[in-house]
Amino acid sequence: MSSIMPTYKRLPVHLVRGQGAWLYEANDNAYLDALTGIAVTGLGHCHPVVSEALAKQAQTLMHCSNLYHIPAQEVLAENLCRIAGMDAVFFGNSGAEANEAAIKLARLYGHQNGIDTPCIIVLERSFHGRTMATLTATGNAAVQKGFEPLVPGFIRVPAGDIDAIAALANDPNVVAVLAEPVQGEGGVRRLSEDYLRGLRAHCDNNNWLLMFDEVQSGNGRVGTYFAYLGLDFKPDVVTTAKGLGNGVPIGACMARGKAAQVLGAGNHGSTYGGNPLASAAAMAVITTIEQDNLVQRVPVIRKLITESLHQHSQAAQDLIQTESGQGLMLGLVMRQDCPELVSLALKHKLLINVTAGHVVRLLPALTLTDNEAILIGERLAGVIDAYAAQLKG
Ligand SMILES: Cc1ncc(COP(=O)(O)O)c(C=O)c1O
Repeated sequence: MSSIMPTYKRLPVHLVRGQGAWLYEANDNAYLDALTGIAVTGLGHCHPVVSEALAKQAQTLMHCSNLYHIPAQEVLAENLCRIAGMDAVFFGNSGAEANEAAIKLARLYGHQNGIDTPCIIVLERSFHGRTMATLTATGNAAVQKGFEPLVPGFIRVPAGDIDAIAALANDPNVVAVLAEPVQGEGGVRRLSEDYLRGLRAHCDNNNWLLMFDEVQSGNGRVGTYFAYLGLDFKPDVVTTAKGLGNGVPIGACMARGKAAQVLGAGNHGSTYGGNPLASAAAMAVITTIEQDNLVQRVPVIRKLITESLHQHSQAAQDLIQTESGQGLMLGLVMRQDCPELVSLALKHKLLINVTAGHVVRLLPALTLTDNEAILIGERLAGVIDAYAAQLKG
């Protein structure tokens, strides 16, 4: 029996080493990684620039606490805000913590405006984390079951339904809308530009904060550094994590304008948040994404994978209803539930994920070579054809 609490249903793979697009077991059994630890190692495993920055920082200063100024954190904050078009950032250690900071910011914003019971509008099928507030914000009953009582102060509406937002315009307690521009766990669904623009308009009209959760979609994955940077408007608050540290835990909650003025000394904190080690890793990540212009590769890699899949598969045409998501948040919406595809893919030495029961989710590295992208398509074709044979048999 393992000494680890059984909170994860683990696959029978024991990974000890990673390089680029490949993960290895101790016996050198190699897996092609189309998942990057769920959108984390966007630069591939052990990217040399990140590893070198980490090694150097580990020999200089790893931690000192936010009781003091941390120059490495200040450099990261400046650069992240420049890229995001934001004014200020709070650093935590995960996506859930980044969202907790956003939720606290929105509540405090409410109180500062005379609202004693502030409410945040959240969407069906959303995922925001596993802490009490973020699991309450999450639109998935399975995540919440057994943890009641949930946190008050959230109103849930269907994703994509702007009338449901308009209907809340006269609710005096609403202070913010929290949404993933591309829903990840909920089925790799891109919310339409019109809908997102509608959210912006309602937030402007009602003095609500528009808060985007880009924990999964951020850091270049969808073809712009953040999904909203492809649009002509910005949220007031944006959260990110995952790809920001390429494997080193870090989360960020950024804000602009009036939203950047809300949190003050003593309102929030984190022992580790933005420590020198995590800040050095994240700075190496964003420098690499910018210098290597990795966002340009995103649509190229997506196309190579899907073309290769269809070229090599007999069954894909029939079994896949449509493609979803954006950039390298790539969903293949299957016609029926297919959780067994994950184990089948392991036999083909390919790491993938299935979410919402029937959506094959690929979150590969932005650094894939053309040949690696083609190989992912080829291996996935083998998986889907084997699955089709099983269905027939
Ligand atoms: C959109 C989104 N928000 C928040 C989270 C939670 O992040 P973490 O697991 O780092 O707490 C996730 C994780 O999957 C996510 O996809």
